[in-house]
Amino acid sequence: MQKTLKKLLSILLCLTIAFGIGTASFADGEEEVPAKGDTEPFRISVSMNGDAGTQRGFCWYTKTQTDTKIEVLDASGAAAGKVTFTDSQEWEGGWYHKATVSELKAGESYTFRVGNGTDWSEYGSFVTDDGDDSFSFIEIADVQATPLENFQKAALTVEAAFETLPDAEFIVNCGDFTNDSTNEEWNRFDYAFGEINANSTMVPVAGNHDGFGVENWFNNMFNLDTSESVETKDGVNYSFDYGNAHIAVLNTNDMMCMSIAQMKWLKNDMDSTDKDWKICFMHKSPYTLGKDGKWPDALYLGRSLTLVFDMCDVDLVMSGHDHMYLRTKPLTGNKIDEENGVTYILSGTAGTKRYEVREFLAGMFMNTDFIDALTIQKGGYGNYWNGEDWKSTKETNIGGCFNTVTVDGGTLTVKSYIRCDETGEVNEIDTYSVTKETGKNEATFSGDNTTSEFEYILSLVPSFLCLAVYAFGEWLPKFLIDLPYILYVYITQDTF
Ligand SMILES: [Fe+2]
Repeated sequence: MQKTLKKLLSILLCLTIAFGIGTASFADGEEEVPAKGDTEPFRISVSMNGDAGTQRGFCWYTKTQTDTKIEVLDASGAAAGKVTFTDSQEWEGGWYHKATVSELKAGESYTFRVGNGTDWSEYGSFVTDDGDDSFSFIEIADVQATPLENFQKAALTVEAAFETLPDAEFIVNCGDFTNDSTNEEWNRFDYAFGEINANSTMVPVAGNHDGFGVENWFNNMFNLDTSESVETKDGVNYSFDYGNAHIAVLNTNDMMCMSIAQMKWLKNDMDSTDKDWKICFMHKSPYTLGKDGKWPDALYLGRSLTLVFDMCDVDLVMSGHDHMYLRTKPLTGNKIDEENGVTYILSGTAGTKRYEVREFLAGMFMNTDFIDALTIQKGGYGNYWNGEDWKSTKETNIGGCFNTVTVDGGTLTVKSYIRCDETGEVNEIDTYSVTKETGKNEATFSGDNTTSEFEYILSLVPSFLCLAVYAFGEWLPKFLIDLPYILYVYITQDTF
């Protein structure tokens, strides 16, 4: 019966498309982007790949198989860098090309183009790290769009970010680039963000939507240094130095969110640096009041991964996934520690899909004493959880969010902004600054930090046991107590 119903629905859908009724949705921004020529490069990205002062990874697609060529020029127009072509493979109806360029000069500006030697892209650009202890970058999350129109709105937010911080040396994207990770969505992302992606170095973070149903989408979209990465089909973990900071990117698609193998990698990775600042990026958030705060993965991250951050003296963790802006007070061991704690920032969404606060989560799944700043983009609320204006609507907070991070010696400053949908104005919603004594960190690990497949599989047993203990011991009883309220919200607000 169910099968017959499904078949009937499929036939109806086909008929709808065939007779053009589906074109009504074009008015809502569903139109396709212009078709590409067979060997015309598209989806071009420049990504951090190993040494930030001397090396970059490039990835692009073509519709058909063709040669992989890249030209990198220094400021004088002379050819620069040593090129290694790492990959060119058929993937999801197209061909991806990867090239790594090394032996660049630190602190220089470069232009580049990619192609097959005949068909070339427009010139793009990037800068390399000069290695000093002063730099800045942009961080965004959760573009997670389907229609072109929403990708374009998110691109306006990112353009506003580069106007706000023109000296940004790279951009971190904390994941969920698209909603369903289809070819069409990645093409729309490329169409809206093409100029931005070709003219900045990206630090991509794998989100749970980046590979939805198609494994390896994320891994085949960017050229990253995966030499130490824990083997998963839905994202990679990697790290690099920039200025006086060590930066690690985590993959929360590993197992349910994070295997013990990846936590071990993080511990060794952070212990191998003597850089002053230790910063981590990941997609899912341990601390959130959004709708995803009620699932065991957030609790698992908050009970396990946060302990690793504590152990290796991480300063700042930025994430996404729950489409609202939240900054915690500095925390150690799930307690407020103003002196030495880790600050967690749940980036607001740069996109148009915005979440409300689930107030029943407060006190149940997250200690609200931890919250220092909170901004809800959907209703335009904000900014301080315990402050006078938490529930007052600010129309200017209805828009896309971006964050700027500036490191200047012993001072790190994060400023967060919303680009108002209505007026296009950019308004600061939060600022956070921390100062520390530099030159204090020591490297205590110097071994091989790769994880073998065997070691990873072995680690899954304790990983799942650990998750099960949190899930059944702590999460399930809380979830069951909250279930009536969760169902009430589901019925009245149509969201789970
Ligand atoms: Fe997500």
